Amino acid sequence: MLSPILRSISQPSTPQIRKRPRHVVGTMHQKSMETFLGGVRELFTAPLDVGKLLQLSGELRLEYLDRLQSSPISMLPSYQHTLPVGSETGDYLALDVGGSTLRIAVIRLLGRKEDGSSDRQVRRVRQFEIDKAIRDLSGEAFFDWMASRIGEMLTMYGHMTGNASAQLAMGLSWSFPIEQTSPRSGKLLKMGKGFRATEECSGQDLSELIMRSCRKKNLNVVMRAIVNDGTATLISQAYKDPSARMSLIMGTGMNASVYLPVSALHRSKFGDRPEAWFDAADHVLVNTELSMFGKSILPITRWDEDLNRAHQHPGFQPLEYMLTGRYLGEIVRLILVDAVADAGLFDGQLPDRLDEPYTLDTKIVAAFEEDTSPNLAAARATFLKAHRMRTKLSQSDLLFVQSVARLVSRRAQAYLATALHALWTLRTEAEGLETGKSCHVTVACNGTILEKYPGFRAQTQTYLDELCVLSGAANGAVTLEMAPESSLFGAAVAVCCLEGT
Ligand code: GLC
Repeated sequence: MLSPILRSISQPSTPQIRKRPRHVVGTMHQKSMETFLGGVRELFTAPLDVGKLLQLSGELRLEYLDRLQSSPISMLPSYQHTLPVGSETGDYLALDVGGSTLRIAVIRLLGRKEDGSSDRQVRRVRQFEIDKAIRDLSGEAFFDWMASRIGEMLTMYGHMTGNASAQLAMGLSWSFPIEQTSPRSGKLLKMGKGFRATEECSGQDLSELIMRSCRKKNLNVVMRAIVNDGTATLISQAYKDPSARMSLIMGTGMNASVYLPVSALHRSKFGDRPEAWFDAADHVLVNTELSMFGKSILPITRWDEDLNRAHQHPGFQPLEYMLTGRYLGEIVRLILVDAVADAGLFDGQLPDRLDEPYTLDTKIVAAFEEDTSPNLAAARATFLKAHRMRTKLSQSDLLFVQSVARLVSRRAQAYLATALHALWTLRTEAEGLETGKSCHVTVACNGTILEKYPGFRAQTQTYLDELCVLSGAANGAVTLEMAPESSLFGAAVAVCCLEGT
């Protein structure tokens, strides 16, 4: 059943936009483009009133509570039950498998400095693009590819541990869901982000798959820790900032991690773990898989429905489909394609390749938000480089694209703040605190959208502040802090924390 809000939003009250032949040009188009844009604005901004967002936050919190009791694919508890204290030291090999890159690094943890802060360094790092051909590798072929890249790195820096024959302890930051079966291993779950690696290996042990491929190449490495990238980010920030209790990833994909009392999760969520773990654990780091929430709660538009319908995994990650780098461009593209046909955008002519799914890169959308010049020259050049046009790209077309970009990204920022506010409220309650009295919480952040998309983090923070204040907390009760290189550092710190266990 659709919620009442969802129904009212997905069935716009604005007049239906008339289909017109593509060749009709002139002032009528201009007016029609305005009408079209008004309809888009109505759909994208109607849910963003802060009172309504607070209500949505309440509904999301109930969904989180439900999944803490019983979901096999979200609210996944890790084995980490303490946060690092910042005194951890050593050299580790950190792997970071993201949606579009594999990074391999040697990380040195230096522990506490005299001023009380903690220090760490990236000693060496190599980055490999994960393009479509690699995302399409299924089964072991993907892990063999990974092992080859690790091998290249080890060959290049063969003496990096100071002793070429020393075995190197590896930590993996994995940007996909995983069901942890020990601190060092976990079962592969469906990957998303266009990856096919799980297709022949779903449910198999991730550590064993990687190690098998490494052994085939005689690599002297051993997998010591596997963490989701959201969890890695929280671990990394906690190494230097004791107020870190949540993390947020916003890149190709999105996720959040949170440090919760063990009692907040149903015992069945922990799978088969030794009693000793429960004896030692008071809290646990939880990978929320936040991308999977919000279906039937957050209002959507017909373009979200189109995107979902055409997706490889419809309904799998509803929040992600509205928020992240992989989808912002696609939502804008779907709107533009409709506007070409219905309102004569681009003189009714589709620019090159704009009709192909996922061709409008979010970088192009970001360029429209970045460009504050009156003639939008930089945005124009970026757009035309990717999508050539036979007709002239007019100023009003450019302004139209810019407005659509703003509407799509504002909604993403508001929904993101709402999802974080819901998580923060849940944590506050689980700790037995009142929202008005809870201590300041840092959300450790990572991901290209937060780093690079113009104003994204600042606007999300503004929505978050408004929600905190409306729910009785102080302005700035929850702050978003960038945590650079947190996947790599988090993987290394996780290995160090587990040594001797
Ligand atoms: C996706 C994955 C999740 C990951 C996130 C950020 O949503 O499901 O595991 O943490 O992207 O990379």
